[in-house]
Amino acid sequence: MKKILIIGGSGMVASRFIVLAKDRFDITSADEKTLDITKSGDIEAYFEKNTFDTVINFAAFTNVDAAEVQKGDEGGLVWKLNVEGPRSLAKVCFDKNIFLIHISTDFVFPGNEKNPGPYSEDTALPANSEGIGWYGWTKNKAERVIVDSGCKYAIIRYGYPFRADKYDLKLDWARNLLNLYDEHKMYSLFTDQAQSIVFIDDLVNPLEKIIDEKIEGVLHIASENTTTPHESGSYLLERYAGKPVEIQEGSMVEFLKSPGRTPRPRLGGLKVEKTEKLLGMKFKTWQEMIDEFITQLNS
Ligand SMILES: NC(=O)c1ccc[n+]([C@@H]2O[C@H](COP(=O)([O-])OP(=O)(O)OC[C@H]3O[C@@H](n4cnc5c(N)ncnc54)[C@H](OP(=O)(O)O)[C@@H]3O)[C@@H](O)[C@H]2O)c1
Repeated sequence: MKKILIIGGSGMVASRFIVLAKDRFDITSADEKTLDITKSGDIEAYFEKNTFDTVINFAAFTNVDAAEVQKGDEGGLVWKLNVEGPRSLAKVCFDKNIFLIHISTDFVFPGNEKNPGPYSEDTALPANSEGIGWYGWTKNKAERVIVDSGCKYAIIRYGYPFRADKYDLKLDWARNLLNLYDEHKMYSLFTDQAQSIVFIDDLVNPLEKIIDEKIEGVLHIASENTTTPHESGSYLLERYAGKPVEIQEGSMVEFLKSPGRTPRPRLGGLKVEKTEKLLGMKFKTWQEMIDEFITQLNS
């Protein structure tokens, strides 16, 4: 059984991944308390004592609006966790010949009219931060740092992950919508934002193959088609409520016009054809992912 270290194992995506993958690998899970990746000395010391075939780095500063407050601060926690942490991990993985899987996002792209998605695995990573928020820019930098390190790596991008079993520390987009509906607090959803989503359970088979075969490069694991928050939200709530649910239409273009908004991809999303071909797998559509989410909720 392959020995794997999962960094950020207590997080929303990784904790579900670990439950589903625990019988397939010999997994060690680390979080901030057990291995603080902002401390390069701690990483070196940890890897002197422990060996792994593969490291998966799920850890990141993921609150997009809170990250924006640190915009431009290369001494701040967002930079340290999202860029310097991956840099130190890539160095140790290079030195010790460990396969590094680093988790990323389509927020590395601006998703604007000038450079719209959906992006392919081969789309050039923007070299400047125009139109990209600080979270996305630090994730963009992390990808570069890993590529430049010379280590054996796979960079996995996905967007808008969601899971059926409850995660107490934060709400994913789907759970948030169910709560808003139950509490009669539903607000309008954007009809002019393109996005890919991913049911977290659907990460497991592709990641297993990537780990087993040490498949390198930039890979996208996401719904096969893109959607909008209004379209996927209406579909989700109709299946949840068992009847059509009227949701007001909102505009992200208008939303982003208000001062102080954090830049986020409006024309985002990820193409998956190359990854599907490489892995010999077909990913689900966003509708099939939501169907599976509802099936699990009801079981
Ligand atoms: N959530 C999304 O919508 C989304 C979308 C696309 C991509 N992603 C990417 O997916 C990955 C996982 O996201 P998530 O939302 O599941 O994350 P999350 O729930 O915010 O979890 C973050 C994890 O990072 C750990 N961490 C924080 N500071 C650390 C440190 N200094 N050293 C080591 N670990 C530290 C946390 O541990 P503690 O609990 O101990 O602090 C936690 O386990 C991230 O790389 C993110 O960029 C997320």
